[in-house]
Amino acid sequence: MLSYFKSNSLKSVFSKSCLGLGLLVRHFHGDHAKDFLPEKIELPNVSRVIAVSSCKGGVGKSTVATNLAVSLGQLNLRVGLLDLDIYGPSIPMLLGTSEKGINVTDENKFIPIKKHGISSISIGNMIEQSKGLIWRGPLVSGVVKQLLNDTDWGELDYLVLDLPPGTGDTQITLAQTLKMDASLIVTTPQRLALADVIRGVEMFKTVEVPVAGIVENMSWFRCPNCNTKHNFMGGHAQSVKDVAAKLGVKQIAQLPFVPEIAVSSDRGVPVTAQLGNQLAQPYFSLANRVIEIITELRLEKEKEKEKEKN
Ligand SMILES: Nc1ncnc2c1ncn2[C@@H]1O[C@H](COP(=O)(O)OP(=O)(O)O)[C@@H](O)[C@H]1O
Ligand SMILES: [Mg+2]
Ligand SMILES: [Zn+2]
Repeated sequence: MLSYFKSNSLKSVFSKSCLGLGLLVRHFHGDHAKDFLPEKIELPNVSRVIAVSSCKGGVGKSTVATNLAVSLGQLNLRVGLLDLDIYGPSIPMLLGTSEKGINVTDENKFIPIKKHGISSISIGNMIEQSKGLIWRGPLVSGVVKQLLNDTDWGELDYLVLDLPPGTGDTQITLAQTLKMDASLIVTTPQRLALADVIRGVEMFKTVEVPVAGIVENMSWFRCPNCNTKHNFMGGHAQSVKDVAAKLGVKQIAQLPFVPEIAVSSDRGVPVTAQLGNQLAQPYFSLANRVIEIITELRLEKEKEKEKEKN
């Protein structure tokens, strides 16, 4: 089975679309699907891992991942943010660390950069930003593994992973390598994006990572003329909730579209790092919700383990 997995043809199926991992399950249904998932590692001293994903680019994954991480940090948790978007790393810009390089320990482990109350690491801090990043599949997989295995996070309560869009090599490598507590799926309220939500949920089900929830980004905006909340995509806001419910997952946030969020991101100072900024509120709510859900998931897991023992 494993050799099949490594074969190029199957791999190209994965990297082409979000359907990849879904296809895998359909292809090798039942017991065999699990043969593809080798033993996964737990990162030493990292208590909880949450992956922020989406099947489409530009929906706000990195913005959500960054503000979630900084919010968790503001709640006095020890937090790491790992940029796994090897092709298009944006964490250095979002955190304002573009100028900083990565140092290594005596044991040749990467030392994350500390800023805005969290530790972060990105390939963008390792190579000149100006150079276009061109990686081939196997290389990407190697970089992801190295970032996972060779980073010295110290003690972390939460590690937030910012994933690239889709279900390419990064997602496959991650799913095979790392034990994760949960995933968040970020989407926008357009109809087209809803199909991506379905694929995303399917993918995480396949690799047995619980979906903590769907985050609807750029869901609404407050109109400067009439000061009321308008649905950004004209009345589809409810649809995300419906789709989520049908898939058996929760929509756990509806984040507004706010130009200042984009501006703050470009400046490298997330709204959540700005003391007293009201725009941070929805992200703090999200962070608290994520803590709740992951705690629940842990309890469930422990109960299951107990049952297995008895
Ligand atoms: N809630 C929001 N309000 C305004 N702009 C946003 C919001 N979320 C994201 N953006 C902007 O949208 C663009 C894409 O966001 P990004 O987080 O990079 O998406 P992704 O990681 O999914 O590709 C960025 O310019 C970002 O600043
Ligand atoms: Mg991104
Ligand atoms: Zn209006």
